[in-house]
Amino acid sequence: MEHPKFARTDHDVLDLIRQRWSPRAFDPLRQVDAADLRRLFEAARWSPSSGNEQPWRFVVTSRSATPDTHAALLASTTPKNQSWAGEAPILILVAVRLTTERTDTVNSHAWYDTGQAVAFLTLQATSLGLSVRQMQGFSPAAARAACDRSASSVPP
Ligand SMILES: Cc1cc2nc3c(=O)[nH]c(=O)nc-3n(C[C@H](O)[C@H](O)[C@H](O)COP(=O)(O)O)c2cc1C
Repeated sequence: MEHPKFARTDHDVLDLIRQRWSPRAFDPLRQVDAADLRRLFEAARWSPSSGNEQPWRFVVTSRSATPDTHAALLASTTPKNQSWAGEAPILILVAVRLTTERTDTVNSHAWYDTGQAVAFLTLQATSLGLSVRQMQGFSPAAARAACDRSASSVPP
């Protein structure tokens, strides 16, 4: 029988799209291995962007590998978000470069492109059996401060 969480769409779409949803329950013991993490950002990298500017930037924190940064990033989220995000093994801060690399002028498509890259990342995660829940409920200033201190990325 089909998984009950699969969306019952009106029209035939990709199974990946039907399978994606945003849980608030995460397994605190589950690790996401580095190879899978890299595949998420590889998927984002191959997302289209205006002028191929690729204006997205990701800061990755891991509860096990970078516990201090992870805790500080978690603390930048609202109490309601902390109640579930505290269980997630990985938190990712998404940042946007608002000027073009080529001419250093305003890139008015940067937000659009970054959202699209996150959509690619999210579908890649779904295909790997990982779940993503996006959050606007956080303090950008606190998140920036958290990640400035010891920003870490996917290990080489
Ligand atoms: C930009 C954005 C911001 C969001 N912010 C939050 C948030 O702060 N807290 C939360 O619990 N969910 C947040 N969500 C998740 C949405 O509530 C969720 O995607 C929506 O209810 C649809 O559910 P689904 O993703 O399971 O289809 C956010 C989603 C997006 C795309």
